[in-house]
Amino acid sequence: MPILAENSFEFFSHSPHQTRRLGIHLGGALNAGDVICLEGNLGSGKTVLVQGIAQGWGAMDPVSSPTYMILNEYRRPDEQRLFHLDAYRLEKEIEAEFLDFDRMLTQGLIVIEWAERIKAVIPELHLWISLGYTGTEHRSMMLQPHGERYESLVEKIQYKLYGDF
Ligand SMILES: Nc1ncnc2c1ncn2[C@@H]1O[C@H](COP(=O)(O)OP(=O)(O)OP(=O)(O)O)[C@@H](O)[C@H]1O
Ligand SMILES: [Mg+2]
Repeated sequence: MPILAENSFEFFSHSPHQTRRLGIHLGGALNAGDVICLEGNLGSGKTVLVQGIAQGWGAMDPVSSPTYMILNEYRRPDEQRLFHLDAYRLEKEIEAEFLDFDRMLTQGLIVIEWAERIKAVIPELHLWISLGYTGTEHRSMMLQPHGERYESLVEKIQYKLYGDF
């Protein structure tokens, strides 16, 4: 059992729609420079969440997740970029220059599926989301902020979901 920070937040989704809605709230609160890491088995809902994030962020391009995809880029009218990385097929010892986080983070933000596979190269400050299968239509999502920026982000999401609690 991992030790969870006080400020982590667990969300229980009862449908793909709800997962997408969480993503929309999250996406609407994201800025250039943000790093969102998704961990969870096949079919746990990572891509559904990314679809919501992209929608909330204002992407002009649809989110796709073909099996060969490693890095996708979605645009917004203001020229910002959302980088969608799927680390499933990456070896652990990837070349650092391929994953040019610095460049990506000046142009926009990054969302990483299968982030646990490339933990060594992930920026120290990030939001970590662990997704779990809890039933046919049910998924658990644990949001763990690493850094103040992400602590306030998680608070903002909670507020958007539940109001003043
Ligand atoms: N509450 C839920 N939230 C998200 N997806 C759900 C939920 N209930 C059922 N599903 C279904 O589970 C599947 C999730 O697929 P998705 O592609 O998002 O998973 P993934 O974690 O990205 O998998 P992969 O590791 O293969 O990329 C979809 O078919 C979706 O309709
Ligand atoms: Mg996926």
